[in-house]
Amino acid sequence: MKIRRCAVLYIESRENLSIDWRAVLAGGSALAANMQWVAMAPHLDQELNINAAELAALGAASQTVWSERAEVEQRHGADCIARLLELGLLLSDDETHTAARERDETLRATHWRPLSALAHTFGRWREVSSENGMEAPSFQSLLEQFGEPPPPTLDLPADGALKLPVAAAGRMDEQLLQRYTGRNFDLQASVPLDVAARLLHRAFGAQEVRMVGPHASVLKKTSPSGGGLHPIEAFVLVQRVDGVAPGLYHYHPIEHELRPLRSLGSAEAAALAREILADQHWLADAPLQVLMVGRMERSFWKYRNHQKAYRALALDAGHLSQTFYLLASEAGMPAFVTAAINDADIEKMLGLDHLRHAVVAVCGCGPASKGERTTVELRYGETDAI
Ligand SMILES: Cc1cc2nc3c(=O)[nH]c(=O)nc-3n(C[C@H](O)[C@H](O)[C@H](O)COP(=O)(O)O)c2cc1C
Repeated sequence: MKIRRCAVLYIESRENLSIDWRAVLAGGSALAANMQWVAMAPHLDQELNINAAELAALGAASQTVWSERAEVEQRHGADCIARLLELGLLLSDDETHTAARERDETLRATHWRPLSALAHTFGRWREVSSENGMEAPSFQSLLEQFGEPPPPTLDLPADGALKLPVAAAGRMDEQLLQRYTGRNFDLQASVPLDVAARLLHRAFGAQEVRMVGPHASVLKKTSPSGGGLHPIEAFVLVQRVDGVAPGLYHYHPIEHELRPLRSLGSAEAAALAREILADQHWLADAPLQVLMVGRMERSFWKYRNHQKAYRALALDAGHLSQTFYLLASEAGMPAFVTAAINDADIEKMLGLDHLRHAVVAVCGCGPASKGERTTVELRYGETDAI
C-alpha cells in the first residue's frame, strides 16, 4: 500500500485556558494553558486533534510523492500511521481509504489557493441561530457593550485640501438615495411577477452572451465580475411572488427562467428562510430571496491557486447585491444582503459541494410593512435612534 499526505493541511497550536486551582492555592497564577495541536484540512471539513508524534509524521510526509506504507511505519510507528489514515490526513491507494482520497482529489482538481480553501471551509456555519448570540444590529447596545467606536472616517491633515463642487443632481439619485436595508417586510404583500422578472434579469441575468472560443462564452451582466467570468449563480427562494409557487429555484441567467428545485408550502418556505438566514427573523419575511453561490471551477479555471480569487468572488457578490438593492429601490421596495447565513446547511439543501461551490451571501427584497417598525432601519432623512 502506498501513502502520501493530503494536499492542504494547516496545523494550529491551540490554547485551552482553565483555572489552575492548585496554583491559586499556592499563591501562583490562576490561569493554566493547555496546548493542543489541531489539524485543519479542507477536504475533511472538520477540525481534528492530533498528538506530537502524529504531527511529526505529517511533517515528514510528502503531499505529492507516494511512499510505501511499511517504510513510513518503520519511521513513525504503525499505530500512528493507522490513525492518520483513519482520520484522512494521510491518504492511501487502498480502497478502504477511498472516501478521503476522493475528497482530496476534488480539492486538488479545483485549484484552490490553500489559505483560501482553509478560510472558506472553516468559516461556514451550520445550524447557527440568533440564540447563539446574534441579534438585529442596534448601535445603542453596541455602544453599551464596546464604548465609542473609532471615528466614522479617516481624518488626515486638511492643509491644501481641495473643496469639491456640490454633487449635481443626476438620474441615478432616486434609486441611490432611496436605497436602504429593509428589516420590516409586509407579511401580506407579494412581489408582482414582472417586477421579480426585471429584478432577476437586470441583476443576475445575461444582458449579452459573448463567444470567446468555439465552445466558450462569457456573460455580460450589469455588474462587473473578476475576469469577466461571473462565477456567481442565483438560487431563488420564493415565498410570495405572484404567479410563482413557493419553493427553491435556480435562475438561469441566459434562458431567463426559474428552474424548480424544490416546491414548498408557505409555512415551509418561511421556516427555510429562517434556517438559511441563521434565524434573522427581521430579514426572513422578504418574499423574494436570492442565494448567491460561487462556482469555484469557473473562477479558478483562470485564477488557479491564486491569492486574490476568493476575494474577487466576494466582491462579485457585493456588486450583484448592490445592483439588486438599486433595482428593488426602483420598484419601491427595500432590500437586504447578509453573509450571516448557514452556508453549510444551504449546500446540503442545494446538493452542493463546499470544495467546488461557495455560498457567499443571501439578498432579498419585498414591499415594506406599513405598520409599526419593530427592527432598526437606516432610511434617508429619518433621525430615529438606530
Ligand atoms: C456584507 C454585508 C453584510 C450584511 N449583513 C447583515 C446582516 O447579517 N443582518 C442585517 O440585518 N443586515 C446586514 N447588512 C446590512 C447592513 O447592516 C446595512 O447595509 C447597514 O446597516 C447600512 O444600512 P443601509 O443599507 O440601509 O444603508 C449587511 C450588509 C452588507 C454589505
